Amino acid sequence: MSTAGLRSPHSPTFPMEKGLSLPQDCRDFVHSLRMRGKYALFLAFVVVVFVFIEKENKIISRVSDKLRQIPQTLADANSTDPALGLAENASLLSLSELDSAFSQLQSRLRNLSLQLGVEEEEEAEAEQRRPGPPRRHVLLMATTRTGSSFVGEFFNQQGNIFYLFEPLWHIERTVSFEPGGASAAGSALVYRDVLKQLFLCDLYVLEHFITPLPEDHLTQFMFRRGSSRSLCEDPVCTPFVKKVFEKYHCKNRRCGPLNVTLAAEACRRKEHMALKAVRIRQLEFLQPLAEDPRLDLRVIQLVRDPRAVLASRIVAFAGKYETWKKWLAEGEDRLREEEVQRLRGNCESIRLSAELGLRQPAWLRGRYMLVRYEDVARRPLQKAREMYRFAGIPLTPQVEDWIQKNTQAARDSSGIYSTQKNSSEQFEKWRFSMPFKLAQVVQAACGPAMRLFGYKLARDAASLTNRSVSLLEERGTFWVT
Ligand SMILES: *[C@@H]1O[C@H](CO)[C@@H](O)[C@H](O)[C@H]1NC(C)=O
Ligand SMILES: *[C@@H]1O[C@H](CO)[C@@H](O)[C@H](O)[C@H]1NC(C)=O
Ligand SMILES: *[C@@H]1O[C@H](CO)[C@@H](O)[C@H](O)[C@H]1NC(C)=O
Ligand SMILES: *[C@@H]1O[C@H](CO)[C@@H](O)[C@H](O)[C@H]1NC(C)=O
Ligand SMILES: *[C@@H]1O[C@H](CO)[C@@H](O)[C@H](O)[C@H]1NC(C)=O
Ligand SMILES: *[C@@H]1O[C@H](CO)[C@@H](O)[C@H](O)[C@H]1NC(C)=O
Repeated sequence: MSTAGLRSPHSPTFPMEKGLSLPQDCRDFVHSLRMRGKYALFLAFVVVVFVFIEKENKIISRVSDKLRQIPQTLADANSTDPALGLAENASLLSLSELDSAFSQLQSRLRNLSLQLGVEEEEEAEAEQRRPGPPRRHVLLMATTRTGSSFVGEFFNQQGNIFYLFEPLWHIERTVSFEPGGASAAGSALVYRDVLKQLFLCDLYVLEHFITPLPEDHLTQFMFRRGSSRSLCEDPVCTPFVKKVFEKYHCKNRRCGPLNVTLAAEACRRKEHMALKAVRIRQLEFLQPLAEDPRLDLRVIQLVRDPRAVLASRIVAFAGKYETWKKWLAEGEDRLREEEVQRLRGNCESIRLSAELGLRQPAWLRGRYMLVRYEDVARRPLQKAREMYRFAGIPLTPQVEDWIQKNTQAARDSSGIYSTQKNSSEQFEKWRFSMPFKLAQVVQAACGPAMRLFGYKLARDAASLTNRSVSLLEERGTFWVT
């Protein structure tokens, strides 16, 4: 999964730090916005930022001033992760201030998008009129290599849930942020707003981030379409007539290119919606979603032992972890400081989100659940029941069957993104192949997070590989009603 910004003719950029002019790209984009008539509000938000850069210089510079200042929590994380992009001397500003600056901007953007003929909130209203049990929106919030594909399947397998696998991937690929302090907060706000539109079944919002740009709402480039049952069943699976290359095609049958309109209709027909995302780093950014009565949001934060996560990332994302591999292979004693800082930053942002969730501020009450991958792996059915109960969605025999079949599989069937494995055997396999010095680095960088989640430190190489030494503190359900 590349983090590289892929600039295409329709790639919006956020030059928060400098040039306050309206680039040609953007004019084309706004033009196409008019041409195509029906657009989601959010898109307007991304694009029209530029219009405002010209028209509303004042607001923009105020917002970008605020963006340059980084919330306390981020500063604490002290990360060098480019995704967190910390300003060097982050002055501390509460997120609510930042947010209020943005909602003001958004209100103006909404007005502007109305002028541009964007049909707003129509689908959301239809949504509210839908009969049946209360519709739930579940966000599975994770980071890479935490078992989120596996846990996501728990929701994907329930026939009445419209499930999307990592749709924010498209945003990461197309939206480039200028380097500097604005990037972390800026991308979080874009992710959040896209997320909201997706939950409201406005799948068109995604089209603008898909490269190449879909035509007639048809695309064969929807990321991991095959991981979403709802996108591969009738009627979203249209007859396969013309052979076209579709990288993320459906697994069990051939379908025509994805018709986004059909997908959006299916989304509205299903009783619930669930979505997995590894790109939402801070829970607090989700407050407006949690407070939106149309969503009745449930957030499940999935965490995993950071030692296991790192071991898995080094294998899965070999290119990005060259430095680590070199360090391990060549026996140098010092790892580059920035790598350690990045690791620490990642762990801290996970911890800060979990602490916020467990603190249960009013806006999150009953809407947040923390789940450890290790507990899911050891007791998948029990954890699935807990998650469904928390979400307020009935667990179906379909899901139970899938879990039975896929947690007791033979060993040889596990590919890199495979969800099929003997899970109670797999969950601590990492311990027996991990060099102790690697474990030590993680333990030093991620201590506070490990303490919070109940991952015990290994004192020496022998206890790391000794099966009778447990590295997991038992915890009850991290879930408060
Ligand atoms: C943050 O990073 C700086 C520079 O890398 C380092 O000197 C400092 O000790 C770090 N602070 C914390 C709290 O980790
Ligand atoms: C960073 O902040 C400190 C304390 O607010 C201040 O004394 C210092 O001059 C600042 N450094 C820079 C480079 O702005
Ligand atoms: C947007 O339009 C509404 C109604 O026309 C108006 O009340 C509101 O003040 C406008 N918002 C902004 C930020 O201009
Ligand atoms: C996509 O589906 C919609 C809704 O059924 C239909 O009206 C439209 O013609 C389809 N688009 C294409 C290109 O087939
Ligand atoms: C899965 O692993 C557990 C723990 O090692 C073992 O008891 C069980 O027999 C395994 N199941 C299968 C189907 O291999
Ligand atoms: C593994 O740990 C157990 C419990 O601490 C200990 O009794 C045993 O001697 C250890 N085994 C080895 C091989 O170190």
